[in-house]
Amino acid sequence: MYFKRKFPNSRLRRIRLNSNIRNLISEFELSTNDLIQPLFIKEGLSGTEPIESMPGICRHGEDSILSEIEALLEHDINTVALFPVIEQSKKNSKGDEALNSSNLMCQTVSEIKKRFPEIILISDVALDPYTDHGHDGLLINNYVDNDETLNILKQQSLTLAQAGSDIIAPSDMMDGRIGFIRKALDEMDYKNTILLSYAAKYNSKFYGPFRDAVNSASSLGKSSKATYQMSPKNKNEAIHEVAMDINEGADIVMVKPGMPYLDIISNIKDTFKIPTFAYQVSGEYSMLKLAIDKGWLDSDVMLESLYSFKRAGADAILTYAAKEISKEITNK
Ligand code: PBG
Repeated sequence: MYFKRKFPNSRLRRIRLNSNIRNLISEFELSTNDLIQPLFIKEGLSGTEPIESMPGICRHGEDSILSEIEALLEHDINTVALFPVIEQSKKNSKGDEALNSSNLMCQTVSEIKKRFPEIILISDVALDPYTDHGHDGLLINNYVDNDETLNILKQQSLTLAQAGSDIIAPSDMMDGRIGFIRKALDEMDYKNTILLSYAAKYNSKFYGPFRDAVNSASSLGKSSKATYQMSPKNKNEAIHEVAMDINEGADIVMVKPGMPYLDIISNIKDTFKIPTFAYQVSGEYSMLKLAIDKGWLDSDVMLESLYSFKRAGADAILTYAAKEISKEITNK
């Protein structure tokens, strides 16, 4: 058997002799086709505004988002995921603004599609940017009510599909939402609107900087999402979540966070063999970026971290570093 290979007949260093040989035998590559850039859009902002806990990442105003998309397309990044930062005065306990068909997200989606029809737009479905309590669904007796939330997520999905989103991405972790949303989309003839399910989404502290970015951290306070997001102690449960979502009609499933959950990505890809995305979330990005900016880590760690997703089996990666990394990939 090949495991009996022995020195000196076998010398593994022979295939590492120079970069051309190393490239020839490499098992995984990263291309701009694998990268999805998450973007923050803020109501009433002109230009950009830095996000303190995410070095190098900013919130975009309405003009700036269009020029950013143009720049991304020039860098061959063809897919973006949009996250809204809503004015505090528009938030309420039911997240009503999510259903307003001329809200920030819907307007931005339709403007982007008008200017850049070729870009693939992923719109997040969940209520946390719109609720004053910061939860992804409706609170009834201090508990996020699953079935009441489904009705709202369905409406939110329809408004986002109507605005021109290519991909609807429910990130709320309610049970049954994929089936519910798929049925509603089909009934309204959005048969080609893709459903990307945040199927295995963990209750993670790595989301901290994102919650700063969309100003939901203060709304959420000390309240936790543990009754709907998964426990970091579980692995088999992720298989159940994904199986359910596939049966309900998910086209693509996602694992989130990424680097601390590579085992989950690998397990899901091996088990189901369907398109599987990974989300390198805000906390993961900020840890690496801050250490790079301080000079404690070489900037190549970002690319190295993305290879780990490819090895685990991810088909595409949502990463805040997408644009930056695209420059390196093209140069290599
Ligand atoms: C909310 C949502 C979150 C992220 C994406 N959508 C945060 C949360 O669940 O509280 C996190 C992304 C990141 O940390 O980069 N539905």
